[in-house]
Amino acid sequence: MTYQFAAELAGRTIVITGGGRSIGREMAQAAGAAKMKVAILEVNQANLEKTVAELKSSGADVTGYVVDLQNEKEINDSIAQIEKDFGKIEVFVNNAAFHDAEDLLGTSLEVWNKTFTINTVAPFLCIKAILPGMIARKSGSIINIGTVNAKMMIGSDSYTASKAALHAITRTVAVRYGAHGVRCNTIVPGTIATEIWQERIDRNPAVFENLKSWYPLGRVGKPSDIAAAVLYLASDQAPWMTGTEFVVDGGLLAGFAPMYPVVEGSD
Ligand SMILES: NC(=O)c1ccc[n+]([C@@H]2O[C@H](COP(=O)([O-])OP(=O)(O)OC[C@H]3O[C@@H](n4cnc5c(N)ncnc54)[C@H](O)[C@@H]3O)[C@@H](O)[C@H]2O)c1
Repeated sequence: MTYQFAAELAGRTIVITGGGRSIGREMAQAAGAAKMKVAILEVNQANLEKTVAELKSSGADVTGYVVDLQNEKEINDSIAQIEKDFGKIEVFVNNAAFHDAEDLLGTSLEVWNKTFTINTVAPFLCIKAILPGMIARKSGSIINIGTVNAKMMIGSDSYTASKAALHAITRTVAVRYGAHGVRCNTIVPGTIATEIWQERIDRNPAVFENLKSWYPLGRVGKPSDIAAAVLYLASDQAPWMTGTEFVVDGGLLAGFAPMYPVVEGSD
């Protein structure tokens, strides 16, 4: 996809968690093309190295940091290192996530805790580490990647609960630190065809085809649909946007597309 970049993004530092593949990698590619300074925090070293090499070969200013976001010390050390390497963090994207598709009864405490540790606790710790710098500079944009699951019951029970808490953290940060010049928003994606779906694709290779009819725009999403929203929220084109749930879902949350013809008796 060809992005329209806001000129002021050039030179701005963006940190993306989980940027080794899928949506995070696309965000990093888009930010690199916008001439931002890109830092990626990623647990999968092989994917991180591959993505960093790809971005560098396209001329991007990018640095990778191998970090397990389940570890508080690794989070704090890497963010301190990025502030040292780049001088400051202007945009931070909490993108990394762990997904388990089990129902509540099938979910072990171990899986429940791991899901919350990666999807909720890690963003909390990252925000805690970056906020002092943003407050001191009276400027910063924090972008939390939520999900439509947090808005209605569509399965994946531990994942949904952990993301709903992340949506709440967005509101807290926006309201509490808005007076300090910090903006914080949640992007709310619908289904995006990425590797997080691999287990479900293995069970049902037609999963994206089957989901299409629920999307008024007639397709599931692409990583670029989300990367474009990140660049917008990172830019000065969104100066009065904070505390929002910025829905990027092809119309899913607007209604039940397969339902209205039944209600009207016209299906
Ligand atoms: N794909 C979708 O349908 C969809 C829909 C709604 C929301 N989202 C959200 O978008 C974001 C990206 O999703 P995706 O589809 O690209 O997922 P993905 O699983 O393909 O990528 C997630 C990345 O996070 C990294 N990661 C996971 N645990 C980590 C840890 N402990 N430390 C560091 N890195 C870690 C993974 O290695 C991976 O590179 C997630 O927050 C997800 O919840 C995705």
